[in-house]
Amino acid sequence: DWKMDSFTEQSIKKLKEKIGDKKVLCALSGGVDSSVAAVMISKAVGKQLTCIFVDHGLLRKNEGDEVEKIFTEQFDVNFVRVNAQQRFYDKLAGVSEPEAKRKIIGEEFIRVFEEEAKKIGTVDFLVQGTIYPDVIESGLGKSAVIKSHHNVGGLPDYVDFKEIIEPLRDLFKDEVRRAGLELGIPEKLVFRQPFPGPGLAIRIIGDITEEKVKIIQEADAIYREEIANAGLDRSIGQYFAALTNMRSVGVMGDERTYDYAVALRAVTTTDFMTAEAAELPWEVIGKVSSRIVNEVKHVNRVLYDCTGKPPATIEFE
Ligand code: XMP
Repeated sequence: DWKMDSFTEQSIKKLKEKIGDKKVLCALSGGVDSSVAAVMISKAVGKQLTCIFVDHGLLRKNEGDEVEKIFTEQFDVNFVRVNAQQRFYDKLAGVSEPEAKRKIIGEEFIRVFEEEAKKIGTVDFLVQGTIYPDVIESGLGKSAVIKSHHNVGGLPDYVDFKEIIEPLRDLFKDEVRRAGLELGIPEKLVFRQPFPGPGLAIRIIGDITEEKVKIIQEADAIYREEIANAGLDRSIGQYFAALTNMRSVGVMGDERTYDYAVALRAVTTTDFMTAEAAELPWEVIGKVSSRIVNEVKHVNRVLYDCTGKPPATIEFE
């Protein structure tokens, strides 16, 4: 079989030899890298792998269910979904400073993960979805920390394990996606755009409430749907809706409204270090904006972010 030569087949074979009959643990974020890494390991050792997926309540609309469905129905792994939404909302209540939000989420994530990992006991291997660009980046040492990035990368200290496995360490992003497709991971996940670890928390300016999370989930879902309808979903580097902390006056029928403004962001970029605002067709923006104000309660205004990076960043916080 020609496929035996492929990277994925070779990797699976090697992983099988390395892991033997031992136990493996994976912190699954639902992102491309951790998903591809997890599936690769599951193809090698099946249920010896446990994936812990922490739902922090700051995921995009339906995302938690989608991840759960893929990993429980399509692949042979022990899948643990932790519904920790309320814990995160409680911890975040009243907190509006961006780095404080990141810190709370990062710490709570570790706590939740740690609690779940304890139930499994000592594992031999911990999987990390590190890819080649991550290796280079950490090797060079980032000169200035503009935003502290809480990926699951910082977990090892908190979990009882013997060795890290990083099956994607030599791959660039496009190679990771190709491997993902070969492994049978749905395109929707394989071509998913980057989504920050703290999730919607950094797309809601200011303090977070459950209501605000709902608003931005709905608005963002409409935006993504229309971008896909326009056939733009693979050409734009990153796009999302954010909830500004601004309310303004509007009119609905004969009524005055005083509601939130949603900001639409879309950027083209090669490395996410710099970016340009994407020139979306006006019809798309118009359609998205009228759908959002009509379909999402408490939104009466939609703004388009025309700023590049620098001076703005891609995310709003
Ligand atoms: P910025 O906003 O810094 O974003 O221009 C650059 C890229 O990094 C992502 N990003 C994050 N990813 N944790 C993450 O895992 C974070 O705290 C975080 N902040 C930004 C952002 O989505 C973009 O792809």
